[in-house]
Amino acid sequence: MTKFLLSLHVLAAIVAVGPVTVAASMFPPAARRAHAAEAGVGTVRLLHRICRVYAGIGIAVPVLGIATGAAMGVLGDAWLTTSMALTAAAAGVLAAFVLPRQGELLEELTAQGSVERRATAQLAMFTGIFNLLWATVTVLMIVRPGSTTGA
Ligand code: HEM
Repeated sequence: MTKFLLSLHVLAAIVAVGPVTVAASMFPPAARRAHAAEAGVGTVRLLHRICRVYAGIGIAVPVLGIATGAAMGVLGDAWLTTSMALTAAAAGVLAAFVLPRQGELLEELTAQGSVERRATAQLAMFTGIFNLLWATVTVLMIVRPGSTTGA
């Protein structure tokens, strides 16, 4: 059962977090290209949609992670508590900064065909913070400092 839950957890991380990382990283340059009329707003809209939809699917990652941790009896371990806090921080950055700002830029591009360079740079910064947070969680999941279970 533990192996089954862990497989689903890792699968969810790959399928959901992967697309969000790629689409969110592509969004700021795509918005700048749409601003310069080198690309269509359609691409920017699609990238935003991928981020929104896969962020929703990504909720399965901590849910399955907690189920795996409970099945293994490691929910109280420091590496897992830290991972949960970092996952919550990553989700918070995505929900409070990345997705809303993408939405705002998309609206501006649709309405007036232009965006401020400062706004795309700021979005790129928040996207970088999000990526750094979940990449740290992935390393913690594999290294599991202080853990006596598994390899
Ligand atoms: C609330 C958040 C999370 C919890 C409670 C959680 C829990 C767990 C647990 C209990 C394991 C098994 C570790 C072991 O075999 O001893 C695991 C493995 C793993 N988790 Fe998470 N996880 C969370 C978030 C994430 C996130 C955000 C990612 C990546 C995007 C992730 C990626 C992985 C990977 C790749 C493994 C496999 C590591 C390995 O077996 O070497 N997890 N997780």
